[in-house]
Amino acid sequence: MKILVTGGAGYIGSHTLIELLEAGYEPVVIDDYSNSEPSSLERVREIAGGIWEIIEGDVCDYDTVKDIFDRHEVGAVIHFAGFKAVGESVEKPLMYYRNNLGATMNLIRVMNEAGVGRMIFSSSATVYGMNNQVPFDETMPVSCTNPYGRTKLMSEQILKDAAAADGNFRPVILRYFNPAGAHTSGLIGENPRGIPNNLMPYIQQVASGRREKLTVYGNDYDTPDGTGVRDYIHVVDLAKGHLKALEWSLESCGEGGEVFNLGTGRGTSVLQLLTAFERVNEVPVPYVIGSRRAGDIATCYADASKAEKVLGWKAEKNIEDMCRDAWRWETNKARWETNRGVQR
Ligand code: UD1
Repeated sequence: MKILVTGGAGYIGSHTLIELLEAGYEPVVIDDYSNSEPSSLERVREIAGGIWEIIEGDVCDYDTVKDIFDRHEVGAVIHFAGFKAVGESVEKPLMYYRNNLGATMNLIRVMNEAGVGRMIFSSSATVYGMNNQVPFDETMPVSCTNPYGRTKLMSEQILKDAAAADGNFRPVILRYFNPAGAHTSGLIGENPRGIPNNLMPYIQQVASGRREKLTVYGNDYDTPDGTGVRDYIHVVDLAKGHLKALEWSLESCGEGGEVFNLGTGRGTSVLQLLTAFERVNEVPVPYVIGSRRAGDIATCYADASKAEKVLGWKAEKNIEDMCRDAWRWETNKARWETNRGVQR
């Protein structure tokens, strides 16, 4: 079956392509490479083989997406394409609304015209906002504090409204906790442009000497060691969660669609992650304690029981796996860039 994967060259998209290919699906990829490189798709091919079409294009563009559905018998869509930097979304809110909401709405429109009713959508634990008690479960009230988060929340709402209006449209919304790590091959992983926003890629770059030290955003939170606690989930586990969600959506999803958390259910603090990285990889990660980052909460981790019960999915890898795999990828990447003479 052909699966349209939007944003397939990105971090989570590329790992999910491997799972799809290994399960015998035929992915068709659309990506505009605004935050990714075509080379990640070449490496996906190296790992998992398979032939699919890659379209360089914008998911917001009706004719581009329509043409894909005209030429391929698409069975379902996995929609990753979207901007995801919180700070940038505060500076350029309209760019975020236009791109993230425009892509979701355009896809729904074309899917509706083509009679394709299954979509897996990338949402985020950011929709649980500042006021819920951990562990976060799917029934809790949602709210957001920045434009990026609101595009996720609004997309969820748009998907639900579209599902209410069309019984054949049954979206599966996946709320990711904190993706980390890389494929065990060391060939693909996260490749942020510029200064990383997220903790794990920042740690990787400090360990490799590319950045001098990590700033820990606050050590006065109400947590065991005072630093922020998050639910880090290995990107390969996350990718496997997409496969389970896809299969469930094709076989069992009822009218209206469904929402699932994809997390481990375990919290890890900034300092715990940092020391695990140093221990597992035998590499120092210098850090200083700084002030809190605006919009951060003390603790965030999932109640992941719904995905286990309904999808039969559970995260299997631990923090040590994430640290080891992230470091393998980081060192490979640094070597390739040096060989190619890339300025970092
Ligand atoms: C962030 C976004 C969230 C998004 C998610 C996935 C914010 C406020 N939230 O979540 O909307 O869905 O990424 O992309 O940006 N930390 C440091 N030093 C750093 C970086 C992070 O101490 O240089 C700390 C943070 O304070 C936090 C933890 O590390 O306690 C994780 O941070 P991060 O990786 O940015 O993820 P979130 O803040 O959970």
